[in-house]
Amino acid sequence: MISVKPLLEVEDLTVEYATDAGPVRAVDHVSLDLTPGEFVGIVGESGCGKSTLLFAIARLLSPSCDVVGGSVRLHGRDLLGMDEEALREIRWRDYSVVMQSAMNALNPVLTVGAQLEDTIAAHESMPARSAQERSASLLRLVGIDPLHLKSYPHQLSGGMRQRAMIAMALIFTPDLVIMDEPTSALDVVAQRSLMLEIKELQRQIGFAALFVTHDMSLVSHFSDRLAVMYAGQIVELGDTRELFRDPKHPYTSALMASFPSITGPKEVLQGIPGSPPDLLHPPAGCRFHPRCPLVEPRFRIEEPPLTTVGNTLVRCHRYGRDH
Ligand SMILES: Nc1ncnc2c1ncn2[C@@H]1O[C@H](COP(=O)(O)OP(=O)(O)OP(=O)(O)O)[C@@H](O)[C@H]1O
Ligand SMILES: [Mg+2]
Repeated sequence: MISVKPLLEVEDLTVEYATDAGPVRAVDHVSLDLTPGEFVGIVGESGCGKSTLLFAIARLLSPSCDVVGGSVRLHGRDLLGMDEEALREIRWRDYSVVMQSAMNALNPVLTVGAQLEDTIAAHESMPARSAQERSASLLRLVGIDPLHLKSYPHQLSGGMRQRAMIAMALIFTPDLVIMDEPTSALDVVAQRSLMLEIKELQRQIGFAALFVTHDMSLVSHFSDRLAVMYAGQIVELGDTRELFRDPKHPYTSALMASFPSITGPKEVLQGIPGSPPDLLHPPAGCRFHPRCPLVEPRFRIEEPPLTTVGNTLVRCHRYGRDH
């Protein structure tokens, strides 16, 4: 087997929020590699640590939040230890970020064109004319008429704003694009079409994508691998098709049973009542045990390790050493 050098290497990453009640460990010893051009989806219910993981990787954590352990490497370079100046050099060029709401990320008092051109100017000296042409072609790339270079964010539809953010993220054709629910502010039909476009752009440009969503059905067709997060931990990681064909963790199965349909209500975890734990006081043993239909007494006490089963990693006692 030819081994491809990873583009992104996340090792044992642990991230905590400082709160009055004590530390909240939102990401707990997460390890994850991405190879160049790979599309990896991260799924899990609300509050499982998906955004915190992405923010930590992108060095965008809020001040109350800190990486307390582990490392993140991009092209073999330590991202977490990098000073601000070095970081400025590689942000946008080597990796970029698309967040959930473009309305919050775009500047409301600048036209789309001005924002694209400012970002270009901040990293590369080029004549204004060339920056304009570059901006126009970026908008075309994401399916927006370049006439909208003159539009302000509020004049665009939600879908167009997200597309403008994606255009911004692709300015310097980065190797990695980190996306936190980039389609979730849109209606279901618009989500699907934007998702198709993101995938097509990825095929054209070849970037690797780390893509967070609640929506299993959305990523099922688009991601090469899936990481399932529960209560700050990866509980299953493997090839997307394999996970769908043979989900090993009961939580993965539950998520798959909760496909939102085009017409039906979203996000009902069928057959698994309750919600993810408060991470201030995570349950002992397996974190999923209070909701697990397959729980056994010792699962409430012992924490399951990540175990390799075929090509999948799974954190479940049923695959542990004694089974
Ligand atoms: N500012 C904060 N202070 C304290 N705890 C926080 C803060 N932000 C998030 N958390 C906690 O960290 C955990 C993970 O939050 P995070 O936003 O990463 O989850 P998520 O999986 O992205 O959820 P969602 O799907 O709702 O976006 C949650 O349990 C949350 O309570
Ligand atoms: Mg989130």
